[in-house]
Amino acid sequence: MPQPLIDRFRHRLPVTDATPVISLGEGSTPLLPAPRLADAVGVRELWLKWEASNPTGSYKDRGMTLAVSKALESGAETVLCASTGNTAASAAAYAARAGLTARIFLPRGAVASAKLTQARMLGAEVVEADDDFDGCLRLAEEAAAAGEGALVNSLNPFRREGQKTAVFEVVEELGESPDAFVLPYGGGGNTSSYAQALRELGLEIPLVSVEAANRRDTLASAIRIGRPAHEKAVADSGARVVGVTDEELVEAWRELAELEGLFCEPSSAAGLVAVKRGDVAGDRIVVTITGHGLKDPDAADRQTRSASA
Ligand code: F0G
Repeated sequence: MPQPLIDRFRHRLPVTDATPVISLGEGSTPLLPAPRLADAVGVRELWLKWEASNPTGSYKDRGMTLAVSKALESGAETVLCASTGNTAASAAAYAARAGLTARIFLPRGAVASAKLTQARMLGAEVVEADDDFDGCLRLAEEAAAAGEGALVNSLNPFRREGQKTAVFEVVEELGESPDAFVLPYGGGGNTSSYAQALRELGLEIPLVSVEAANRRDTLASAIRIGRPAHEKAVADSGARVVGVTDEELVEAWRELAELEGLFCEPSSAAGLVAVKRGDVAGDRIVVTITGHGLKDPDAADRQTRSASA
């Protein structure tokens, strides 16, 4: 089995010998050169951190291995979260591996069906609420406050600790530092994790965090979040926040697939839009591609059908 992320980065994570390691072989994801896309967008070196190769198909597994291991260590029997889909699948998978129950609050009708299937197949208790993601997060927080289980949204610091490791991997692999890190911005947990990693490494590398221009109404359902839980942390981190339209997202999403052979979910193309627009300075840019395209095949179907009609 690949080395668990917790073991690879043990020296930088809040674990002890008493912490059980609940791993599905997460992390150590490919850092792929993207020369054709780099030419198309006019950047000298473009690197893609392909987080879709995590066990449940998104970067969430980096934080979830730690959050669920720590929940188990603390004696919890249930983990709780709200989700637009990927956190749900990841929590369900790691809870299953740990022998815990995952109870998940999802906005009804707003989650890509493959993600819902994934969470259900992995044995999660799925509660569909007639509310948006923000309302679901309140429900999960209330359940945690009532003692029903451990919250494993990125408000849980162990999630963010685990997510730091993507930056460690990139810096280790490139040998020298990139000029910028670019990633999508939904709730902002990942942006604040990256900022924390850079602080710990003593590196001052610009972070560009890319959100949907219309947060409440975007085809990128993963980042359809009205009020980001980590807004203040993102602001304090000094990250540059950029808003992108659905049209721009779709264009970059298709370009990534057609020029580099990488099929991601729509939200994951957000970082590329910022690069295309020239919002990211530097010759060597790392863009994080957060989740797999097969997570949201309906969104892709709508694009390919409209193109061939
Ligand atoms: N990319 C993907 C594929 C996501 O699923 C998410 C968030 C983000 C980017 C944004 O990351 O929230 O740390 O700023 N998904 C959450 C979920 C909300 O429930 O799966 P963020």
